[in-house]
Amino acid sequence: MPQDVKKKIDRLRREMRRHDYLYYVLNQPEISDRLYDQLFDELKTLEQANPNLITADSPTQRVSDRPLDEFVSVRHAVPMLSMDNTYNSEELRAFDERVRKQLGGRDYDYIVELKIDGVAISLRYEAGTLATAATRGDGEVGDDVTANVRTIKAVPLVLLDGRNVPDVLEVRGEVYMPTKEFVELNKLRSDASEPLFANPRNAAAGSLKLLDARTTAERNLAFFAYSVGELSGPLGENHYQILQRFKKLGLPVNPNIKKAADIDRVIDICLGWSEKKQRLDYQIDGMVVKVNRFDQRDILGATGRAPRWCISYKFPAEQAETTVISIDVQVGKSGILTPVANLTPVQLAGTTVKRASLHNFDELNRLDVRCGDTVLIEKAGEIIPQVLQVNKKSRPPGTVPFKVPKKCPNCGSDVRKDPDGVYIRCVNRDCTGQLKERLKYFAGRGQMDIEHLGSALIDQLVDNGLVKNFADIYTLKAGQLAGLERMAEKSARNVVNAVEKSKAQPLWRLIAALGIRHIGGQSAQILAEHFGSLDALMQAGQQTLEDIDQIGPTMAESLYDYFHNDKNVAVVRRLNSLGVKPKQPKVKRSDKLAGKTIVVTGSLEKFTRQQAEYTIRQAGGKPSSSVSKKTDFVLAGKEPGSKLDKARRLGVTVINEKQFMDML
Ligand code: IVH
Repeated sequence: MPQDVKKKIDRLRREMRRHDYLYYVLNQPEISDRLYDQLFDELKTLEQANPNLITADSPTQRVSDRPLDEFVSVRHAVPMLSMDNTYNSEELRAFDERVRKQLGGRDYDYIVELKIDGVAISLRYEAGTLATAATRGDGEVGDDVTANVRTIKAVPLVLLDGRNVPDVLEVRGEVYMPTKEFVELNKLRSDASEPLFANPRNAAAGSLKLLDARTTAERNLAFFAYSVGELSGPLGENHYQILQRFKKLGLPVNPNIKKAADIDRVIDICLGWSEKKQRLDYQIDGMVVKVNRFDQRDILGATGRAPRWCISYKFPAEQAETTVISIDVQVGKSGILTPVANLTPVQLAGTTVKRASLHNFDELNRLDVRCGDTVLIEKAGEIIPQVLQVNKKSRPPGTVPFKVPKKCPNCGSDVRKDPDGVYIRCVNRDCTGQLKERLKYFAGRGQMDIEHLGSALIDQLVDNGLVKNFADIYTLKAGQLAGLERMAEKSARNVVNAVEKSKAQPLWRLIAALGIRHIGGQSAQILAEHFGSLDALMQAGQQTLEDIDQIGPTMAESLYDYFHNDKNVAVVRRLNSLGVKPKQPKVKRSDKLAGKTIVVTGSLEKFTRQQAEYTIRQAGGKPSSSVSKKTDFVLAGKEPGSKLDKARRLGVTVINEKQFMDML
C-alpha cells in the first residue's frame, strides 16, 4: 500500500530527526549508533523500493555523489562582519567602557561564548528547510558549499517545529573538526604520504572546499550555531533567547555559554577558559563577548568591519621560541625514519616542551633546521608540538645542514625513500627499533589495550631478547619480568594479568593491533564484521578483500601481502595457540540475493556503482567486476558497454534497475 509506505517513511524520518536532536543538541542519545544505523538502513531500503517518495531533506540524502565542477558565489543578504580582538583584561575593560558610554546609563548584560576555531558558515533555511550553505568569503560574497555542509550530521536538513519559524532564517555558526578526527585524518594522510593539515581549522576549511561531497562526508565535521543573519520575522529579543530557540529548532549550540552581569564576571570566565580549554575535544582560539539585548546592539551599531557590541578575547599565542640541542632520527613501526628535534625545555600552554617532530626529511630540509638554531614552535591543544620556522638571524656561526641518514640509526641497515612519497624507511623487517614501535602499538589503547605494558617496559623486553614478536608477549612469566629494572614482583604480576585479560579483546582490536599498513581501527571493524574470524580473513583473496565496501585496492593489497608473509602467518598461528583467537559474530543481513553473483555495469539512476555493490553484499549477494558463465545477473544501467554484450553472448540474465529493486 503506497499510503502506508509513505506513512512509514515519514515516521522513520521523524524518528531519525528526533534522535539527531537528542544526540547533537541535547547530547543525550537514547539509542546506540547501531540502532540508529538500522533505522537508516530501513529507511534507505524503503526509499529504494519507492524512489518516487525520496525527498532532498531525507536523512538518507545527505551525501551527493555528483561532484561539482566549481563553487558558485553567493552574496550574503546580511554581511558577515568580522570581530575586533582583545588580548588582556585591560582591553576587555576598555571595551566595556565604550559600551557603557554609548548606552548612556542603561542596564546591560553580556553573553560569553567560546570562540570555536573553525570556519564561519551561513545556513539559509527557507520554510524550515536548509536551502543554501555559504562560507564567509570576504564578508559580502562567499562560496556556495551546500553539498558539503549537507553531509555534516550536526546540521539539520529541516528544522524541528519548522512551521513555527520565520520563512527565511539564516543561521550563522562555525563548522569545525573535532581534535580526535583531526589527529586521525592526519594519521591516514601520513600513512598515504599525503601532505598533512597544519591544524583542525585548516582541515575543516580544506574539507569544505572539496568538490566531491563524498570525501567531505568522511571527514566527520561538526557544527555550532551562534548568531542570525537574515530573518523574516521575530525570533527573540536577545541573544540568549535566540540560542534557546536554536536548540528547540534542532540546531546545536555550544553548551558552555554563560550570562555575565558585568565586566568582572566576563573577565573571570575568559581567564578561566585559557586553562580549561585543554579539556575540550575541539579547538578554541579565544572567547567571544556579546551584548545580550538586540535593541542595545542597534544603539551600538558597527564600524565598517566589525560590530561595536561584541569583541573577542584571544588566548595568549601557543607559540614559543627555543633552541635546538640536537636532532634525533626515530624509527617508526613500519620503518619510517622521522627526524625529531630535542629542544631546550620551554613552557608552552601549560606543559614543558622538550621535543618537536619535524615530520620528514623534506620538511626538515625546507625549514633548514640545524643544531644550535633558534626556532619558533607551536602547540595546538593535544597535538604534538611542531617547528614552525627557524630564526635565521640568530643562527650561530659554523652550523651545518642536517644530513639525511643513509643507514637506519637503530640497526644500521639500508634505508629507501618511498617511490612516490616523502618518507624514508629502514628496509630491515627485523630491526629492533621497528619491533619496539610495533609492540607499543599492539599493546596500545586503541588496540589490545594491555595495561601496565608501557613503552619503557617494551624497550627492556626487546633489549633483553625476551620478546621478538607479538606472540612472545603471551609467554611472559612474572618471574622473568621481576628481574627487569624498576619491576617489583607486584608490578610483574599486574603485567601478566593484563596480558591475560587482553585475550578477551574483540577480533577487530587484534586485527588493528597487527599494525598492517593502511588498516586502522575503522577498517579493522569492517573486516572483523565481514569475516568473523582471523582465519577467514587470512584466507581471503585480494579480489574478495577489494570487493568489501570501504576496503580499497591499497588496503586489499596490504592485507593480502601481510597474510602471505610466512613470518606474519607463523606469529598469528602462535598467537592463536597461546589463546589469542577472538571471534566476532557476523553482521546479520538479508538473504534476498544469497549466493548470487551480480555484475553492475553502466550508470544507474538511484545508486552509484559502489552503493549498488554494497546493497548486493548486504542482501547476501556477491558483486563482481567481470562477466563470466558463473555470473547470475548483469545489472545494466545507461550506457552499459561491452559487459552487456558479453552477458548476451553468454546467455546471462540481464536486469534493469527496477527489476533489481523488486528483487530486494
Ligand atoms: S559571533 C560579527 N560567536 O570568529 C561577528 N563568532 O574572528 C559575529 N567565531 O568569523 C560572530 N566562535 O567565524 C561568533 N561563538 C562565536 C564564535 C565566532 C567562533 C568566529 C567566526 C567569526 C570569527 C571572527
